[in-house]
Amino acid sequence: MSYADVERKLEELYKQLERGYLERTRRSRELYERASKVMPAGVTYAIRYFRPYPVFIERASVTRVWDVDGNEYVDYWMGHGTHVLGHSPRFVLEAVAEVVGRGTHLGYENPYAVEYAELLSKVVPGLEMVRFTNSGTEANMYALRLARAYTRRKYVVKVEGGWHGGYDALHVAVSPPFTGPESAGLPEEYLVYTLTVPFNDVEAAERVLKRYPVAAIFVEPVLGAGGCIGPVGNYLKDLRDLTYAYGSLLVFDEVITGFRLAPGGGQEYFGVRADLVVLGKVVGGGFAGAGAFGGRAEVMELLDHLKYPDPRARSFHGGTFVGNPVNMVAGRAVVEYLAKHRELYEKANSLWEAFRRDVDRLCQEVGLPCWTTGAGTMSGVHFTRVRPRNAREVHELRWSRGIEHVLNLYARLRGVLYVSERLVHLLPSLVHSEEEVRLFRTTLESFLAEITKK
Ligand SMILES: Cc1ncc(COP(=O)(O)O)c(C=O)c1O
Repeated sequence: MSYADVERKLEELYKQLERGYLERTRRSRELYERASKVMPAGVTYAIRYFRPYPVFIERASVTRVWDVDGNEYVDYWMGHGTHVLGHSPRFVLEAVAEVVGRGTHLGYENPYAVEYAELLSKVVPGLEMVRFTNSGTEANMYALRLARAYTRRKYVVKVEGGWHGGYDALHVAVSPPFTGPESAGLPEEYLVYTLTVPFNDVEAAERVLKRYPVAAIFVEPVLGAGGCIGPVGNYLKDLRDLTYAYGSLLVFDEVITGFRLAPGGGQEYFGVRADLVVLGKVVGGGFAGAGAFGGRAEVMELLDHLKYPDPRARSFHGGTFVGNPVNMVAGRAVVEYLAKHRELYEKANSLWEAFRRDVDRLCQEVGLPCWTTGAGTMSGVHFTRVRPRNAREVHELRWSRGIEHVLNLYARLRGVLYVSERLVHLLPSLVHSEEEVRLFRTTLESFLAEITKK
């Protein structure tokens, strides 16, 4: 069967699926019509949009979510990868209910932040000191400023397809063509100190480090939004050696990988130590306001206003809600549980590794090029000519205009939900059952059978 034949099948299938979707999701459609009048594109965040309109979810429990029409889905997105123990574990809700009864936001130093910081310093490798933020974006922003202050250098290197949130200096080379500002309203002049390199390319990183005084390389140990692509060979270790050699800091953005690949995140999983680590999502214990950055004390001390009373001599960090009791108590409950239940990682990582092997085999059998990527539970499925090793390949080697859209809708109608409809990248919890892992595989299997049937 030729690609053109498959493309035709996909178009037909999409029309048929759309009819089923309209029937099943009437209330979502009504909400979407209302939402479109009061929110741009009718959504809170573009990545949550689905064609022809999103499902509106009103409830979640463990690995399931329910939409406003009462349809149940297995969730493979889990609050953007936040809920590694499933949605709303009871013990976390109880801990939060207790602390909230004493005040929702104290606005002063509190014991909960101290206890959580102490725990993080034990669980996250090399994290001698930490500061909390309200999001992963913010944590990256402050970490970059700190790295620049510490090294007294201006340049930062980031990876093509790397997603560190919407902060100016890192909001570049996220999507094709991987050049220039990633947003309107972001002047090119703001990006003159931002350099970009492909993931899994040590030589490119070295060329840049040789030529420019680089404060830090920011890299996700496994590319997340770039397609769940893991490091090949010694890539991370080589970056470590290079940054030592050229006097730059190595910053791991572990907003996704932190507490997911292992309790100590990508650093522990890959055995490579960064100078600074950026945390988000899981670190907030499932509540809004999730972010932190930390690492070597010698670097973190540049935030210390007692050591550096002159504001211009230190690096700034702060915010109204930082260190609030809800995040501190929820995060601590989750991280403590994870650190005590290492067996969860062994089980979940091996289930998803097997999933990726099975899907690779399935794709070969079907005869349509598709490939999995990932590490631990993070899993990508790519309809590309060969297995992609970086974000550029994820996009440039695609052989279909829109197979991902059709698959997403197909899955939604079968009670399988994930983001995004342009990229199959799953961030499941550590507690998804074997049956739930299988459900994704069988959904993919029947979809591929459908679009290749004569
Ligand atoms: C690796 C990575 N860094 C940073 C961010 C930004 O975090 P937030 O959305 O909490 O600002 C994200 C969000 O998805 C992420 O995946």
